Amino acid sequence: MTRPWDECVLYEVYVRSFADGDGDGVGDLLGLRERLPVLAELGVDVVWLTPFYPSPRLDGGYDVADYLDVDERYGGLAAFDAVVADTHGLGMRLMIDLVPNHTSSRHPWFRSARSRRDAPHRDYYVWRDPAPDGGPPNNWRSHFGGPAWTHDPVTDQYWLHLFLPEQPDLNWTDRRVHDEFDAILRWWLGRGVDGFRVDVAHGLLKDPELRDNPLRGPVPDPLAPPRTAWGSYEHVHDLDQPDTPSVYRRWRAIADDHDAFLLGEVYLLEAERVVRYVGEEALHAALWIPSVKATWDAGAIRAALQAGTAAGEGRFVWFTSSHDDQRAASRFGGGAVGRQRALAYLTLLAGLPGPLLLYQGDEIGLEDGEIDLSRSDDPIAVRSGRVTGSRDPVRTPMLWEPTDGFGFTTGEPWLPFGADRTPDDTVEVQRADPSSIWNRTRDLLEARRRLTGGIRWIERGDGLVAYERGGMVVAANCGGTTFDLDVDDVVFRSGGHGSILAPGEAIIATTAST
Ligand code: GLC
Repeated sequence: MTRPWDECVLYEVYVRSFADGDGDGVGDLLGLRERLPVLAELGVDVVWLTPFYPSPRLDGGYDVADYLDVDERYGGLAAFDAVVADTHGLGMRLMIDLVPNHTSSRHPWFRSARSRRDAPHRDYYVWRDPAPDGGPPNNWRSHFGGPAWTHDPVTDQYWLHLFLPEQPDLNWTDRRVHDEFDAILRWWLGRGVDGFRVDVAHGLLKDPELRDNPLRGPVPDPLAPPRTAWGSYEHVHDLDQPDTPSVYRRWRAIADDHDAFLLGEVYLLEAERVVRYVGEEALHAALWIPSVKATWDAGAIRAALQAGTAAGEGRFVWFTSSHDDQRAASRFGGGAVGRQRALAYLTLLAGLPGPLLLYQGDEIGLEDGEIDLSRSDDPIAVRSGRVTGSRDPVRTPMLWEPTDGFGFTTGEPWLPFGADRTPDDTVEVQRADPSSIWNRTRDLLEARRRLTGGIRWIERGDGLVAYERGGMVVAANCGGTTFDLDVDDVVFRSGGHGSILAPGEAIIATTAST
């Protein structure tokens, strides 16, 4: 029997850094196929693939030039069909990344739209006349730096792009765009995929009047890094509009017909805003962003998890790391301490109701890699003059084997592995060691299945973050002093032994009291 979606363990494969099967230094679907059995062994239920579509890859593939194909550099459609078959053969399901907020500027729709004002695809995108001074139509900023508008000299209008100029935003007030995406969903479902991760799910609709966003403080310095400039505005008109969740009503009906799952990247920090995107007539679940932002502090962790459990009702997806955010082991201090804390944090998340999402490398305690910024192609780095903001450190290739190329590639990796990687960091070495993070993660995913029902937080003002669920206690020591717990039967522990919970350790146990 397949596991219900809300109990699943999901695993994010950042395709180009996962496994290279043809030796060109870039991960691909052939390489992925070879590593699928080890994901099944770990306890993964659903494999999520980041974009593999034909793309200029100016944003790592989140700039899609054709929604109905697989880039030949990843192995093309034949390789994809084999991945579907293998994943299913191993008892797992496959989720793909759908990017509906924007296309690549190389997409045929945009090429057509740009050719003239009355082109058939013109209204697939958002075009506006210049402001009276010739500048952009409003003050919106791109997430990647600079204005969210670029002037097209051919038609003398600006196009909207919340990300790169080469990622023009689609116009979700045009019914034809809805029809196109209905067809795209059906096409992939027909090929056997079991779900979609919906990129920038809170972004599709914009304020109909395209009003300026209010400033939070002074106008940002034109040379401010992209994230600082973007953060200087209240994003009330460019994101999270009242009707955006209704876009997913039709998608949900299509998905339900195929018993498929819709997971939104709803990049918002307030639970009451995120819940609008999940439900019977919307998405099945949403990524709970505060869980990937929490720092190593009992109060911060409690706040992030409690807000999510109170509002999410099992429809928020818990995760510690991603291809966009700092890895937990680094965020929590790095080194052996950071890794131990990351596993303790994963323990806390694993016991909660709702899907759990691992990012490749979490299972080996991978830390961010050191990357020479002057070589980074990440748009956030490029547009900050390569001084800050690169997401490359969290995208370094996977470490499979203690060999040259770490079993990732026989060639030159597209991105360095990061300094100070050792044989002990690899999956192969860790699998052979029962006390490794890989084996503890596997044990944790197994222990998680024993926790069912609602949760009750154990309210304490100190460093112990704990809750009860289904007759068990899940507790992590996020403080600086040791706790002696009154535990009975230990089902899982992230480290240590006995009833002592040292700083950075977590436990799942049946217990009389805490
Ligand atoms: C999402 C992706 C990120 C990408 C952005 C634009 O946030 O996770 O990697 O850059 O969307 O598509």
